[in-house]
Amino acid sequence: MAFDNGSPERYDGVMGKTIIAPSILAADFSDFGGAIKCIEDSGADWVHMDVMDGQFVPNLSFGPKLAEDLRRRSSAFFDVHLMVNTPEKIIPAFTCADAITFHLEAATHSHRLLYEIRGMGKKAGISIVPSTPAMMLSEILPHVDLVLVMTVNPGFGGQELIRECFKKVAYIAEERKKRCLNFLISVDGGINLKTAQEAIAAGSDVLVTGTAFFNASNKTEFIRQMRGY
Ligand code: DX5
Ligand code: ZN
Repeated sequence: MAFDNGSPERYDGVMGKTIIAPSILAADFSDFGGAIKCIEDSGADWVHMDVMDGQFVPNLSFGPKLAEDLRRRSSAFFDVHLMVNTPEKIIPAFTCADAITFHLEAATHSHRLLYEIRGMGKKAGISIVPSTPAMMLSEILPHVDLVLVMTVNPGFGGQELIRECFKKVAYIAEERKKRCLNFLISVDGGINLKTAQEAIAAGSDVLVTGTAFFNASNKTEFIRQMRGY
């Protein structure tokens, strides 16, 4: 799947394979360097960074300095997921990200923010929580590179999948096809070996997985199985 905004060079999704994006939210916070190496050695595609402000979600995680410090050790694709209020304030600080995704629920002017992210040379993503209808995205679908459908209520890893969210994935995939748009669809929360194939069947291109990845004893095998082969 090519991208019409012209800079696919750092976007693995264009090869049409399922992208696996382990979330460092589930890593040992005393060893992020080790977590990044673990992700790279496993054959996973992206590093998913769950940024939380303790306001938009009842949890606090890490900020842009972590991305900067990890960028010195890794050229991996940094997929930053902002679960924050007023994302416009922090987006400019994520100069080391490759993709920056913020929440529709947290931004009045999401159309403008998407173009600000693209102006930084990054892929622009929008995310919706389980209670937000997928059709709320209809006006901005032509302006995104990534749609992240939360499959748990954001804030914590290790939660149970909210299965109905896959209906939203299917709806967005249908809209993409009908309107000949080209963005990737990502799911985040409760994605593991039991739920991955269902997520892919619903239309997901990117699988964010935290707990299942970091609990896997053989991470290379885990990634292989997540892709379904
Ligand atoms: C929720 C977080 C989680 C995390 C992955 O706010 O965004 O969804 O990425 O969680 P698990 O551990 O369920 O894969
Ligand atoms: Zn996330």
